[in-house]
Amino acid sequence: MTKGRILTGDRPTGPLHLGHYIGSLANRVKLQSECETFIIIADVQALTTNFEHPEKLAGDVRQVAIDNLAVGLDPERATIFVQSMVPQIAEMTVIYSMLVTVNVLRHNPTIKTEAKQYGYQDMTYGFLGYPVSQAADITFCKANLVPVGADQVPHLELTRKLVRRFNEMYKPVLVEPEALVGKIGRLVGTDGNAKMSKSLGNCIYLSDSAQEVSHKISMAVTDPARMRRGDLGHPNVCAVFAYHKAFNSSFVPELRKECETAGIGCVDCKKRLAAVLNDLLEPMRERRAKYEANPGLVEEILRAGTARAIEEGRRTIAEVREAMHLDYF
Ligand code: TRP
Repeated sequence: MTKGRILTGDRPTGPLHLGHYIGSLANRVKLQSECETFIIIADVQALTTNFEHPEKLAGDVRQVAIDNLAVGLDPERATIFVQSMVPQIAEMTVIYSMLVTVNVLRHNPTIKTEAKQYGYQDMTYGFLGYPVSQAADITFCKANLVPVGADQVPHLELTRKLVRRFNEMYKPVLVEPEALVGKIGRLVGTDGNAKMSKSLGNCIYLSDSAQEVSHKISMAVTDPARMRRGDLGHPNVCAVFAYHKAFNSSFVPELRKECETAGIGCVDCKKRLAAVLNDLLEPMRERRAKYEANPGLVEEILRAGTARAIEEGRRTIAEVREAMHLDYF
């Protein structure tokens, strides 16, 4: 009946944006009818960078839960849960930490990029090791498919290595998962920066109003060489065109031609994009309003999802302990 089991999720460090949507959330929604779907709200992973303000997590956990529900994840089908409340994930993290060297973690390209982005000269043990904890997130429920953006692929490779090591050394009880990278693995920011990212302030959030979306698009960076309406455009260097590719793909050939021949100006091209984005986001706004009006319902969904995740965790950790002969009594 099902194609298997999905696990994916987000750090609750702020609202989710279009980059999250095109990299992972769109696939979550699409696949939830074919696969058992687990969505982790990775609050421990958020602490690896935001440990000074743990009090912000409660609000951010709620917000990320609502973002997932707003895009169309159905709480009847998908299990949405909180990482820190599933103790088996922490147990598996400790076990995996024996199977990876510090050097391997130091060379992880995503860790390197993020450390630079956060300005870390040195890293905490928790930050350096979050890919190990992420391997536990994925494998505690034996997921075989992980919808993620391109930046997460190194973490999936580590997960696969850890699973193979465990299975070969002890007993083959764990499932080696595969990454499923979204249609656009990495979305540019509205400032033309290579990545849409909260810390760069170049995001369009799933929770933005129609006016905010139109305004952000009107300010977005286009082809810098196209100064006047009559200048020919170069769509490949334009952030707005990148968004058309991601969210308006059937009109891309036409828009490319119109841009390159100066048939369409940037203002009109942006208006068309804003309309497409707002059509995409409008049903999300409606679902969001429903959940925001009912905080008790969101809490109930998280409570039930977490209980379900703990059940999976208990089953897996029993097998892990048995495989390692740690089932003493
Ligand atoms: N590292 C992911 C991100 O920053 C979030 C995450 C945590 C995750 N645990 C996961 C993604 C497990 C996929 C699977 O977006």
